[in-house]
Amino acid sequence: MSGEGIGFGKAILFNEHFVVYKIPAIVSAIGNYTVAKILPSDKSGWQIEDNRKATPNYKEDKIEQQKKSINNILKKMNIDLSKNGVKIILDGTLCCASGIGASAASCVALARALSDHFNLNFSDEEINNIAYEGEKGYHGMPSGIDNTASTFGGLIWFEKGEQNVMDKISLPNPIEIVMGNTGKVANTTAAVAGVRERKEKDPDKYNPIFDRAENIAYLAKDALQGEDYREIGKLMNENHKLLQQIEVSSKELDFMVKLARDHGALGAKLTGGGLGGNIIALTPGRDLQDDVANAIEKEGFQTVKTVIGATRSEE
Ligand code: MEV
Repeated sequence: MSGEGIGFGKAILFNEHFVVYKIPAIVSAIGNYTVAKILPSDKSGWQIEDNRKATPNYKEDKIEQQKKSINNILKKMNIDLSKNGVKIILDGTLCCASGIGASAASCVALARALSDHFNLNFSDEEINNIAYEGEKGYHGMPSGIDNTASTFGGLIWFEKGEQNVMDKISLPNPIEIVMGNTGKVANTTAAVAGVRERKEKDPDKYNPIFDRAENIAYLAKDALQGEDYREIGKLMNENHKLLQQIEVSSKELDFMVKLARDHGALGAKLTGGGLGGNIIALTPGRDLQDDVANAIEKEGFQTVKTVIGATRSEE
């Protein structure tokens, strides 16, 4: 008896951080994923063999958060391991880094693998809710955007609320993107808390920035559905500026964003919690995608080449 499950990585195209304040955001699952396997164990409790590739220090930095997250997931699923324990094995094509949804992907994969192992038959909605509890182990009070993308795949319009809004955005064609990893592991809880503190201190500065972020979400949805790549890119650039203004960018992120734009990306911005982690660059067409990825790699950074707006089978 064993169980297996997967969770996708993700890239936030618009409005990370703003989404915490119920402003709409747009997120896409990416092709890279985490796989969790469950094996029965003769010891009680759980043990983990984490074979995922990772940015240096990522796994070490997150070890306590991972423990908390796994315990949250077991609790939410009402799984009692006091008599018969399990061994959890994590693997897959997603290289762990900040900003790429590594924690959400592992929560979703684990929830699915446990559901499979214990024959619990949880639906995607239930898996998403369980993964959300797991995400709390990593970042306090997450908006839920990451686990939603990681569970359902595709391109998603997301709004946090009493009842989260989750609408699929259909694209006529998937669009190539490049993600670039600064190699810096960042702490999302600290990034989110920093925004809250500054916003409370200086509402006159922050409120107009948040209003503009909201406008951008609606403009971006139209541009995505209309395949207006130039407009999408322009809005991504503006979104990055807003993220700079709320102080969640960093010099490495700004450097890589500029590099991507200088090599032809139609737009580029930080993605995820910021203060390190990843950027996303809009690079429609394989040639442009290769050019931008090569330029970033030449500077010694790792990249992921993938698409947004794919159906699950294309991811
Ligand atoms: C992290 O991927 C996205 C943030 O907006 C936090 C969240 O939504 O929970 C920074």
